[in-house]
Amino acid sequence: MSRTTTDYMQLINKDKLPQHIAIIMDGNGRWAQKRFMPRTFGHRSGMNSLKQVVETCCELGIACLTVYAFSTENWKRPRDEVNYLMNLLVEYVNKEIEELHRNGIRLQILGDYRSLPERSIKAIEMALAKTAANQGMVFNIALNYGARDEIIRAARSLARQVEEGKLRVEDINEETFSRALYTSGLPDPDLLIRTAGEMRLSNFLLWQMAYTEFWFTSILWPDFDKEELLRAIWEYQQRDRRFGGLKKSEQEDHHA
Ligand code: FPP
Repeated sequence: MSRTTTDYMQLINKDKLPQHIAIIMDGNGRWAQKRFMPRTFGHRSGMNSLKQVVETCCELGIACLTVYAFSTENWKRPRDEVNYLMNLLVEYVNKEIEELHRNGIRLQILGDYRSLPERSIKAIEMALAKTAANQGMVFNIALNYGARDEIIRAARSLARQVEEGKLRVEDINEETFSRALYTSGLPDPDLLIRTAGEMRLSNFLLWQMAYTEFWFTSILWPDFDKEELLRAIWEYQQRDRRFGGLKKSEQEDHHA
């Protein structure tokens, strides 16, 4: 018998929640095509899944949620689809901002959003300013984001600091490097969810996901709902994270 949302709510250990969940929201196009609808219809429907996921993460008390909305490679898509996604983003931000703010969510953008259309920049900056002081969940939208691009930017910024005499080469370490990334100050993702059956990272948070647990589902993003998210979290909690060390039981054997 399959478990329901209520079952998962009881099963999930609230003391062992992932602090940071990252999501690759894939399959909008396929979802629409299966319904003989344009791909853009899938993106619109995907926006509703995103709303549910944000709500659920907030309800559970997840500290940080990061979603991949538009990659540096997505510019290769047909112009109409790119425009639609940009407009959808403005619509999403304008529609949701009050509720995000009410829930104490702090919105952040990972990626170079300043090269987006003017309308998108305006909507984003309004939302960033409005939620900047909020203390609740950090909600990162990766937009015009690419992990290699992010790493190169970080390397350049550190090199510049060395050139200006503000940093010593010996002080470049995991901590200073992490601080130069878009995710500065945030914990690394504990759990990565990717929908639609693809099992790759697609240039998403490459540095940050060194020890992340990956969870894949064949469900297409517009069909992803609260129950699926809870299932992912519960299954994540069943895993034994070792970070390169030993299992708990193995450590005990070793000390015996
Ligand atoms: C991948 O599906 C999805 C995207 C490239 C865009 C994600 C956007 C949303 C979920 C819309 C709502 C988000 C915001 C922030 C407004 P795909 O088009 O690659 O699907 P396919 O692999 O089936 O073609």
